[in-house]
Amino acid sequence: MQEIFDKANAVLAAINDAKPSNAEELEQFRIQYLGSKNVLKDLFSAMAQLPGERKKEYGQLMNTLKAAAEAKYEEQKAAADTGAKSSTEIPDLTAPGYPVAMGTRHPISIVKNKMIEIFSRIGFTVAEGPEVEDDWHNFTALGTPKDHPARDMQDTFYLSEDKEWMLRTHTSSVQVRMMENQKPPLRMIMPGRVYRNETISARAHCTFHQVEGLYIDENVSFADLKQTMFYFAQEMFGRDTQIRFRPSFFPFTEPSAEIDISCFICGGSGCPVCKQSGWVEIGGCGMVDPVVLENCKIDAVRYSGFAFGMGIERITMLKYQINDLRLFFENDVRLLKQFEGAL
Ligand code: PHE
Repeated sequence: MQEIFDKANAVLAAINDAKPSNAEELEQFRIQYLGSKNVLKDLFSAMAQLPGERKKEYGQLMNTLKAAAEAKYEEQKAAADTGAKSSTEIPDLTAPGYPVAMGTRHPISIVKNKMIEIFSRIGFTVAEGPEVEDDWHNFTALGTPKDHPARDMQDTFYLSEDKEWMLRTHTSSVQVRMMENQKPPLRMIMPGRVYRNETISARAHCTFHQVEGLYIDENVSFADLKQTMFYFAQEMFGRDTQIRFRPSFFPFTEPSAEIDISCFICGGSGCPVCKQSGWVEIGGCGMVDPVVLENCKIDAVRYSGFAFGMGIERITMLKYQINDLRLFFENDVRLLKQFEGAL
């Protein structure tokens, strides 16, 4: 008789000691103590062997056992559920993620990168410089001292009364820095933001971007300049593109020219983009004035070079037929979205 009681008490102790912590152990616990063939059933049937006066006591023990098994099961199941979520279980890494809203590259960046890529293919590296410039680098070294009338070509945002400091009006200032600090041969482009005090309109802004280029070596000629511009125009606007040079003036180049490309919209027959002329202007260029070379301590007898400058906004407007420069600075997603996937 005592044996039957001992057996039941041992099962009770086993239930109390059990710690089924994961799903598998919990299921085993359930089968063992609460399932259709659980061990408590055998203990119940042993009740028949007990004398009447002890049956009640044994029945109560059985109820305690069953309650203990149920309580333990519920308690461990709840613990396993919360525990799994908080620390032990690694989330399913193969599950699809939340969609992330992707931005797009700004058209100015797209065209700038394209220009860098085109010039890098023929050996031009990228150089950068400060946007706040001093008089020497932005003007004087480039043949435009303070009293020179050509200063009026560019409406400058001066930062000091004596006009010693300003926001750069072109990235030619970086050319001066490169010529001062490095020895020829030099072959580099200078992309960057520039500032001019102009009334904002569809065709002009107080800030825009340029890519200027500089090539200095022995025996560099105007033919090299022409061929470089021709190569660029064809890579940027298509293989059928023609170029034309118009005589012009810049204080730091001699001779100087304006570069036109054949209108890639109408192919030269005349349309609103080229104002019926068949040609559109993309920038300025020329042979670096020997005075500028000497200003930068480069031997102007031994070395010669060419320089060019183009507005990125202008190239972008032509390439993508955007008719208002202000759109570039408004960051309206309806414009930017149209450049999704463009590189
Ligand atoms: N710096 C000139 C400008 O901003 C462009 C240019 C660069 C012209 C190099 C000739 C040579 O207008």
